[in-house]
Order: sequence, then structure tokens, then C-alpha cells
Amino acid sequence: MNNRQILVTSALPYANGHIHIGHLVEYLQTDIWVRFQKLRGNRTVYICADDTHGTAIMIRAKEEGIGEEELIASMQEAHIADFAGFDIEFDNYGSTHSPENRALCAEFWAAMHEADLVSEEEVEQLFDIADGMFLADRQVRGTCPKCGAKDQPGDNCSRCGAHYNASDLVDPVSALTGTAPEVRKADHLFINVEKLHGFLDDWTQSGKHLQSEVANYLKGHFLHEPLRDWDVSRPAPYFGFEIPDSPGNYWYVWFDAPIGYMASTSQWCDRHGEDFDDWWRSDRTEIHHFIGKDITYFHTLFWPAMLKTARFSLPAKIHIHGFLTVSGEKMSKSKGTFVRASTYLEHLNPAYLRYYYASKLTPRVDDLDLNLDEFVTKINADLVGKVVNLASRTARFLEGDTLSETYPDDGGLFKQAARDGRAIAGAYEACDFNRAMRQILAAADRANQFVEHHAPWVLKKDPDKADALRDVCTVGLNLFRQVALYLSPVLPRLAKQTSELLNRPIACWDESAKPLAGTPVSKFSHMMKRVKREQVDAMLAASTEEDAKPGQRVH
Ligand code: 2FM
Ligand code: ZN
Repeated sequence: MNNRQILVTSALPYANGHIHIGHLVEYLQTDIWVRFQKLRGNRTVYICADDTHGTAIMIRAKEEGIGEEELIASMQEAHIADFAGFDIEFDNYGSTHSPENRALCAEFWAAMHEADLVSEEEVEQLFDIADGMFLADRQVRGTCPKCGAKDQPGDNCSRCGAHYNASDLVDPVSALTGTAPEVRKADHLFINVEKLHGFLDDWTQSGKHLQSEVANYLKGHFLHEPLRDWDVSRPAPYFGFEIPDSPGNYWYVWFDAPIGYMASTSQWCDRHGEDFDDWWRSDRTEIHHFIGKDITYFHTLFWPAMLKTARFSLPAKIHIHGFLTVSGEKMSKSKGTFVRASTYLEHLNPAYLRYYYASKLTPRVDDLDLNLDEFVTKINADLVGKVVNLASRTARFLEGDTLSETYPDDGGLFKQAARDGRAIAGAYEACDFNRAMRQILAAADRANQFVEHHAPWVLKKDPDKADALRDVCTVGLNLFRQVALYLSPVLPRLAKQTSELLNRPIACWDESAKPLAGTPVSKFSHMMKRVKREQVDAMLAASTEEDAKPGQRVH
């Protein structure tokens, strides 16, 4: 399975808010998958960018009293620092507000015209007179025109499920200013997605590109009836790209956002002398998008329709995950569980969250629960108690010395874990990180039993047992290295520490089948601390305070 060429993306975070632990489910899931692919020797590029356009950005800029461009620049800096703090390693981190994106949007737009998919229709939109802005559907609330439920958003009713236009709401109120918005008419541009219905049926239902529950959801909710035209323009004032052949109108943020994946790739290509078409217009490259379930619709219907029309490659796979809950509940600002990435990093080691999420992630769309008690127990029992302990109980006896010249008899443990590598790789590939972690921890358990049984700390006391001691520690350290290698997509820092300890880089998956012998062992330095519940509580308390500060609205 080597030498695939893979382009991977995570959803582009909005530039109107900071990264929080809910976002991190996706970026960590993707980063782990990418690191796994790289370790396997596949040529893999991980692309992301900030999603910078639209009303939410305009509102936040206004709240902060700065221009949109200033806001998106400072937010991009903050996002990049947060991701780096969690060892999330992009090959390129761009912005949808880039010249590359503008040019690609124009290319897509021309293709839409050429395919005769664009039409103009008059639309009624709610305008907040106090703020001088058109309101997005979620920025207005009112009474459902169908069932009369009060306080419903502008797109669909949470009681009866009806879909409607915001201008149909009874007694609408702007969520921005609390005033009654007025209805304004404007011409919008629409894409006739229905023309691609047959293609979308085939593509979504082929069983190749989507999880089966996603394919079923699309069939049951959208594809069983004609697809509605997609409104892709917004009249001024709007922060975005003006549509070249429609002055005063801008592409809707969801039109230019996914194109941002390509714009960011194009920057990477320019930096590395790569041919853009080799990544986006070639069967050689597999494209994998990782997204959350809330944006399924855009990525599985509009996006393939756009790519198809503009003759770009279609995604090989769209990997969709659920939402984060914290100790069984929605993230809550008042409970302090709406934790920003930067706040987490002030209190806890990023490796903890990387491992915890990995141990919970499956290929299904289910929500993921961060249970804070389990978090503490799992880190201490698995990472500190089983993994790191393996090194600390053996390395100190061989510090400044070397491993045995030939790999000793270990009762078949190394070979067994090497054989398990195939199943572990299969689990990573399938995004079943939960299964991968269980298999790796089982190998760590067996290794610990070996060390326990041969008790190097007892052998150490007997000068005649020096060779036996070296052999036991050689086995222990090799089994530890195997575990650290299998865990390296999740725990890159541990892999680096292990490389330093054993003076051999962890750079490719196949090394898991070759034990080290006769190589030097460096001085052992502490690898990971136990986590205390008080650290978690301090993080929650800091998050509550963070939220109380004015002007710090989180998206
Ligand atoms: O839902 C979101 O957070 C969007 N900013 C995701 C955009 S993904 C892509 F299409 F750009
Ligand atoms: Zn209703």
C-alpha cells in the first residue's frame, strides 16, 4: 500500500473565533491520520486555511472596532499558534481571502456559466437597519410560519422541522441588535444543482466515498426529491469577493470556502515547485476531506457538484465525525467546558488530549464524549502507567551503555507485536483509532508482563546477572520502541523522545518489524507526567473566567 499520493484537508475554521476543544476533535483526527500516512511512506500533504468571509466576520470586526482584514490577520496568527501547540502540522495554512482563492473562484464561476447553471432571482432578505447589514439566517429569530413555535432561527423550525426563508418568519427580531429587521429585495445568483442530480445520486450512493449512514441521510433528506437551487451571491455590504460579472454582489462564503482548500494547495505547490493539476486534476492523487457532521450538506452535494462542473478531481473520501460533548453534555460556557485550545495548553499537556481523542475516535459519525474523570484515569493508567513506565523501568539500567549485541529470546513477543502491525495499520487507515489504541495497549500490556516477570531491578542487585539484565532491558526497550512507533501518529513528542533515547529515529512504519541490537542508550529523561484532577479543574475555572471577559465572543 505504499507510495500513494494523498491530499488531506480539515474544515477551514472561521476567522471569527478562537479554536476550542470541540474543533480539536477534527484537527487531531486529521493530523493523526496524516502522520500515519506519512509514516507509511505515502506522499501526503495536509492542507488547511482560515475561512474568512461572510457576515459573522463582519459582526465580530464591528464588535472589536477593527477592519475585517485586521481581524482575520490576527485570528490567523492565533489559530496557527493554537494548532502548533497541539502538534497539528499542516503543510500549508492559507486563507480564503487570498489572491489564489479569488482566481480559483473566478475559474469555478466561469465553468458554472459555461454549463449554464447560473440564474438570477429576486430574493427577500432581512436587513438590520440599526447595524446596516443583511442578516444571515441564524442571525434572526421569530415565530415559525408553519406551526407558530416562538423564537425559531431563520432557516428551519426546531419544533416542526419546517424549512423556510428568514423573511417568512412572523415577528422577526435581529439577534444582533434586538430590533425588527426590514425586508429588502435584491437579485441573487443561483446555481441549478438539480441538473447534477443524477451524478450526485451515483457519487453519494456508490459506497466508496461516504460512510454508509451519511449516504443514507443524503438519500432520505435531499436526494429523494429535486434539489433546490443554491443561492450563491450576497449583495453589498458583504465581506468577500465581488463577483466579476455582477458588480455589487459577492460570492456567498460557502461558495468560496471549499475552493479555499485548493487555493491553499496552490500556495503549497508554488513553494515546492509542484504542479497544481497533479494534485487537483489527476487520478494519481487521492483527496480526503475531514469534516464535522454539521457541514455534510455543503461537502457532499454542492462541493462535488462544483468540482464536477469545473472538471477537477472528486474527493476519494469524505470522513465525517460527530460533535464533542463534555462529560455527557454539550460544551457549556457557564460550566467552563467551552475550553479554548490556548487555555487547555496553559494547564495540560497536548499529548493527553491527542491520546484521549484517539482512544475515542471510530469511523462512525457518533458524537465523542470527553469524560473528564475518565480522561484523568486513562492518561495515568495507559500513557503513564503502561507506555512510559515501560521505558522508565528498563532504560535507567542501560543508560550510557548499549543494547545486547543480538536481540535476545523474548518468547515471541516482538514478532507478535510486529505481526499485529498489519491490523493496527488497518485500523488507522479506516480511522478506527479506538481499535488501534486497544491493540497497541495490548502489546504494551504484554511487554509490561515480561518486564514484571524478569524484574530487572532484582537482576541489578546481582553482579553475576549483568548479561541477563542487559537482555531483559534490551527486550523491554525494543517492545517499548515498537509501542512508541505505533503510537507516533498520536504522540509525536513521545516518538521523538524515544528516538533520542535509543539513538534511532522513528521515521517509518516498517521499523516496527526490526529490533535494535548493539545500539547505544542515552541518559533517560522523564517522558510524561501524571495528570491531576486539580489541573483539569483549574482549566475549567480559567475557561469560565475567560468567558466572562467582554468582547471575547466565541463563534
Ligand atoms: O463550519 C465551519 O466552521 C466552516 N468554516 C467550514 C468551512 S470548510 C470548507 F468548506 F471551507
Ligand atoms: Zn414550526
